[in-house]
Amino acid sequence: MAQHAYSRRLPSGRVIHTTRPRDMRYAHIVGWGMEAPSQVLTNADLEAIVDTNDEWIMARTGIKERRIAEQRETTTSLATRAAQNALDIADILPSDLDLIIVATATPEYIFPSTASMVQDYLGAKKAGAFDLSAACSGFVYGLQMAAGQIQTGVINTALVIGAETLSRVLDWSDRGTCILFGDGAGAAVLQGSDKPGGVLSSVLRSDGSGWDMLTLPTVSSRDTYLQDGEHEMHRIYMDGKGVYRFATRIIGDSIKQALQQIGLEPADLSLVIPHQANQRIMDYVSKTLKIAPEKVYSNVANYGNTSAASIPLALAEAVEAGRVRPGDLIAMVGFGGGLTWAATIIEWSALPTRSTLSVNWGRRQGEYALAGVRRPLKRWWRRLMLLSPTTWIVTARRILTRRRLRKAQNEPGQDQ
Ligand code: COA
Repeated sequence: MAQHAYSRRLPSGRVIHTTRPRDMRYAHIVGWGMEAPSQVLTNADLEAIVDTNDEWIMARTGIKERRIAEQRETTTSLATRAAQNALDIADILPSDLDLIIVATATPEYIFPSTASMVQDYLGAKKAGAFDLSAACSGFVYGLQMAAGQIQTGVINTALVIGAETLSRVLDWSDRGTCILFGDGAGAAVLQGSDKPGGVLSSVLRSDGSGWDMLTLPTVSSRDTYLQDGEHEMHRIYMDGKGVYRFATRIIGDSIKQALQQIGLEPADLSLVIPHQANQRIMDYVSKTLKIAPEKVYSNVANYGNTSAASIPLALAEAVEAGRVRPGDLIAMVGFGGGLTWAATIIEWSALPTRSTLSVNWGRRQGEYALAGVRRPLKRWWRRLMLLSPTTWIVTARRILTRRRLRKAQNEPGQDQ
């Protein structure tokens, strides 16, 4: 890509020299992957937990079953597996990544970010990493953030992940929420190119006045420090009807707005991948946009609502099922807590080919293995280096004092 040099003298007299791309680049999705826990929880299983039944859940939500993480599975492990699958498809190395964004509402830690942990597990040595909090809109927000960095030439390759272990923050006695959600992860690799296409337009919005309609209180929330805090810590609370009204209002309109930005119509779309919250909400996409229901991808029956993971998980399945082909225009739309919502239009360019037998496959495995070895070594090295001369002296003194005391205790006549 053509670059142009740019220099400017600061008031201090120093001169900044930098380069900027002359033209905008295009950000294409070149890899996709998903990971779903193997443990399945059916509607019949839920009947034993809360007062509900399969007919009610199917009629009101379209959900048949959802996946539940086992004890050893975490948001980070699901995210890492989804990322590895996406890197296989893109056939690039972890060390090629410049940026990792993880959209999640269920991180293992508030800090470090899940993204930093994924970066370490992958061995993505030169990648920046951060988590993004926009609830179920998080993946589309992340996609737009990464695409913007690529389009302006700041970076070339980014990994955007949506990953959740919502089963750990559900109130399993609340039938209004525990039947809806599931666990999983999905990932997409974006890469810069001069070939037109990729992420074409996006609409990111928020209406924080509805913050209390969908919450997951954590440290420092008003639910913690107010005596009359209404909701339990680390448990999802939802005003189902309110969220339903909000979602059906914005789901089609936000896609229309994203299309308008580039002069396109709903009829130009080959496929819409909405956030998989509820089949009834997704049905509004075809109603509002006046497109065939078959053009709206749905796998909510099998996974339930996996929040930030739902769109990349559906994208990975849709591409592998041959529902997305090069040249297709696809829309993705997310909505959820915040309230937030986001829509994006993508001109698809990649073929669904898996290149596990490539030379890069072996190099990827090598980088994963190296990351596993490097991790404990770096930790030990860091511990050693952190011990300052003062710490060494204090530790040595402590050892000597302890020895002296032990010796004194063992000397005859000490116990008199
Ligand atoms: N099983 C059986 N009955 C249930 C039930 C369940 N799991 N959950 C609620 N009910 C009952 C209610 O108690 C109520 O009974 P009542 O009429 O005797 O009082 C009745 O079913 C209707 O409840 P209501 O809450 O009005 O149902 P609804 O049609 O609004 O459906 C949701 C509830 C949650 C499925 C729906 O509001 C919804 O999908 N909202 C959006 C949720 C969402 O997508 N959130 C994530 C956004 S990211």
